Amino acid sequence: MIGEVLRFILFHYCIFIQHRGMGGEFDNMIVVKNMSVSYNGVKAVKRVDIMVGRGEIHGLLGLNGAGKTTTIKCLVGLLKPDYVEELKVFGINVLSSIEYRDFIGYLPEYPSLPDYLTPREFLTYLAKIRHVKTKLKERIDYMLSLFGLDEVGDKIIVELSKGLKQRIALATVFLHEPRIVILDEPFIGLDPEGQMLVKRLLSEIINSGGAALISSHMLDTVERLCGKITIIHKGRTITSGSVKELKNGKTLEEAFFSIIGHA
Ligand SMILES: Nc1ncnc2c1ncn2[C@@H]1O[C@H](COP(=O)(O)OP(=O)(O)OP(=O)(O)O)[C@@H](O)[C@H]1O
Ligand SMILES: [Mg+2]
Repeated sequence: MIGEVLRFILFHYCIFIQHRGMGGEFDNMIVVKNMSVSYNGVKAVKRVDIMVGRGEIHGLLGLNGAGKTTTIKCLVGLLKPDYVEELKVFGINVLSSIEYRDFIGYLPEYPSLPDYLTPREFLTYLAKIRHVKTKLKERIDYMLSLFGLDEVGDKIIVELSKGLKQRIALATVFLHEPRIVILDEPFIGLDPEGQMLVKRLLSEIINSGGAALISSHMLDTVERLCGKITIIHKGRTITSGSVKELKNGKTLEEAFFSIIGHA
């Protein structure tokens, strides 16, 4: 019991320190160091390294099957790597704690939503799991309105369009005011208004000292949105750095194919 209490105090003290921005190591909001992952004995990720700093929107690029989703699943605790030297989110070792989940917002590549619930019911359920304690009803109303879902907030999800479902999935990401968001193909199916909203919410997160990791094939969006990128090719990180540096005077699309071509 005393051990549990001490663990609780220590954990929240660490979080307090991180919120204050003290201690250089916590400026690394996401760290993946030398990670490999297999499915049924077949290596999908061979050597991935990613470092996302505080205040950074970081793009994760790579061709189909490169290993982006596999890497992201490890970061949010859905898959276990075969080997990794460091796997940390918000300074917390992903393999030994699940408490970091309250601080992150995660959008899966294929979000699964409960057909039989309404957006309001689903968001309320998730808000409780994510410990949104104060003004719960107001928060849900605000999120529904923010994502343009007020008119469909009380319809069952199965009746909604693809883009509206993506809006619900994104509302779940930002619901509990996460410090770090990890988004796997967030812009698929979203209209320009939805895309603009996501970009605005990402800016708010990074302006308040958070960070974002986004996998996307939309290179023009990545070019405008991200300060840094990591490119994964055939399960390996082949380059990482500032968009400006990597572009080296070219468009991001040209630079991407040139880097992949030389890998
Ligand atoms: N559940 C699974 N079982 C077996 N192999 C898998 C599974 N999921 C992914 N893979 C394999 O792992 C490799 C990496 O897949 P991953 O989904 O991480 O790629 P990705 O970069 O996200 O691709 P995309 O751009 O198409 O989403 C691929 O070879 C893929 O076929
Ligand atoms: Mg993927």
